[in-house]
Amino acid sequence: MTLPFQKNTVQVANKLIPSALIILFFLKSLPGTAQGNSQTEEKMQWFQDAKLGIFIHWGLYAVNGIDESWSFFNGYISHNDYLKQTDGFTAKNYDPVAWADLIKKSGARYSVITSKHHDGFALWDSKFGDFNAKKASAAKRDVLSPFVDALRKDGLKVGIYYSLPDWSYQDYTHHTRDSMRYKPADDPKRWNTFLHYYQGQLKELSKTYNPDLWWFDGDWEHSSAEWEAPKVRQMLLDQNPNTIINSRLQGHGDYATPEQGMPVTRPKDDYWELCMTLNNSWGYQKNDHDYKSLDQLIGIFTDVISSGGNLLLDIGPKGDGSIPKEQEELLTGLGRWTQKHKEAIFGTVAGIPKEHFYGPTTLSKDKSILYLFVKGNPNGEIVLRGIKNKINRIWVVGDGTKLSHKVVGKIYWSHYPGIQYIQVPDYVLDENMTVLAVLLDGEIELYREDGSVIESN
Ligand code: GLC
Repeated sequence: MTLPFQKNTVQVANKLIPSALIILFFLKSLPGTAQGNSQTEEKMQWFQDAKLGIFIHWGLYAVNGIDESWSFFNGYISHNDYLKQTDGFTAKNYDPVAWADLIKKSGARYSVITSKHHDGFALWDSKFGDFNAKKASAAKRDVLSPFVDALRKDGLKVGIYYSLPDWSYQDYTHHTRDSMRYKPADDPKRWNTFLHYYQGQLKELSKTYNPDLWWFDGDWEHSSAEWEAPKVRQMLLDQNPNTIINSRLQGHGDYATPEQGMPVTRPKDDYWELCMTLNNSWGYQKNDHDYKSLDQLIGIFTDVISSGGNLLLDIGPKGDGSIPKEQEELLTGLGRWTQKHKEAIFGTVAGIPKEHFYGPTTLSKDKSILYLFVKGNPNGEIVLRGIKNKINRIWVVGDGTKLSHKVVGKIYWSHYPGIQYIQVPDYVLDENMTVLAVLLDGEIELYREDGSVIESN
C-alpha cells in the first residue's frame, strides 16, 4: 500500500529524474562549455600542454604598414587605395621554413595564421572568389600552403585564423563603418550567396589543411543563427573530430580568447588563450617600435600559465615576407628562456594561489613538483607560505643547483605548517627569470586557514 505522500514523492521523482537526465545531457552536449568530459579532455590535451603559440597577421596591410582591414573600415584610407597594396605584396623574401623554424625555436608548440582577415584577402588559392595572393597580388602564388607544410615538418600544430566578416565581398552586409550594403533579413537571398561563399571557403580550407585549430574572428557582426554557427561547427568536426575551435563562433567554440588584456583574476573557463601583440599592432607597422621587453613578455607568459592558460603571441611579417628584426629577436630570446625552463612550462598545470607565493607558479601534472618563477633578484631568499607537505628537495631549473631551505614559525602542537624560506644565491639567477623546482613528498596540500586555529588549539 502506498500512502498519499509517498505516491506524490514517487511521482515527483519520476518526473524529476528524466528531466534531470535531459538537462545533464543537454549541458554535456553544449559546445563552448567544456564540461570536463573525457572526450573533451582528450581532444584539448595538446592545447592544454602547449602553453605558447605564435599568431601571425600577414596580409595586404603590411605593405603600407597600416591597421589590418580596420584602416579602410574606419576611413583612414579609401577602400580603393587599400586594395592598391596588392602591388606591394610581393612575398619575395618569404621563407616559410625559416618562419616555422623561428616559431619552433621560440618554444611555441603551435601557430595560428590569418588565412583571411576582415578585408577578405585570402593567402591561399581559393576556388571561391579571385581576391587572393595567387590571383590578385604581386606574389602570384599561394603563400599559405608552404607555411602549413613547414609547420607540420617541424612537428608544430596548425591553426587557421579565419575572419567571418568579409568587408570586400560584394554580397557581404558590411563594407565600411559608414556604409552597410543590406541587412540579412531584408535580402535573405543575397545573404545566402554570402553564406555559400564563406562556408565554401571553410570547407576548402578544412579539406586542404585539416587544421588542428580554428581561430574565428569578427563573429560580433551577426548572430549565431545568421552565421549558421552550429552547422559550421559540425561541418568542421565532421572533417576532423579532434579540431579545436576558439570562442569567436558565437558561443560554439571550445576555449575562451581574451585579447590583449591579461586576466587579473583566474578565468573560470577550463581552457583559455590570451592573444597579444609584441608591440601595439597585429600586422607589420613600420612606425610602431613600442615593443614589450623580453622580461615583460616572460612576465606575462608566466602569469598566463600560472593561471592555466596559453599565450598566443603575435608577429607581423612585412609585405615581402621578411620578419622584422625586433620580432625575430624577441622570439629568439623567448626561446632561450623556454628551452632552459621547459620542465616548468610544458605539460604543467596551473599553480597555487598568490597568497602562498608572491609570483607565478605551475605544478607538475601529478602536483608533486611546485615550480616557482622568481622575478629579478630576491636578495638572498624567497618565501613560501602554507605548504603542508614536507619538502624533499629544491633545485634551480635548467641549472641543477640544489638549494637549502628553512622552516620558520612551525608550532609542534598545531597543524599550521610554518613559513618556508628558500635560500637563492645570486650565482644561480637567470638573466630574465629564475625558476625553482620544489619537490614535495606527494601531491601538494595547502593550508588555507586564517591562523586562528593556532590560538584555539
Ligand atoms: C580583433 C580585430 C582584429 C585582430 C584580432 C586578433 O578582433 O578585429 O583586427 O585580428 O582582434 O585577435
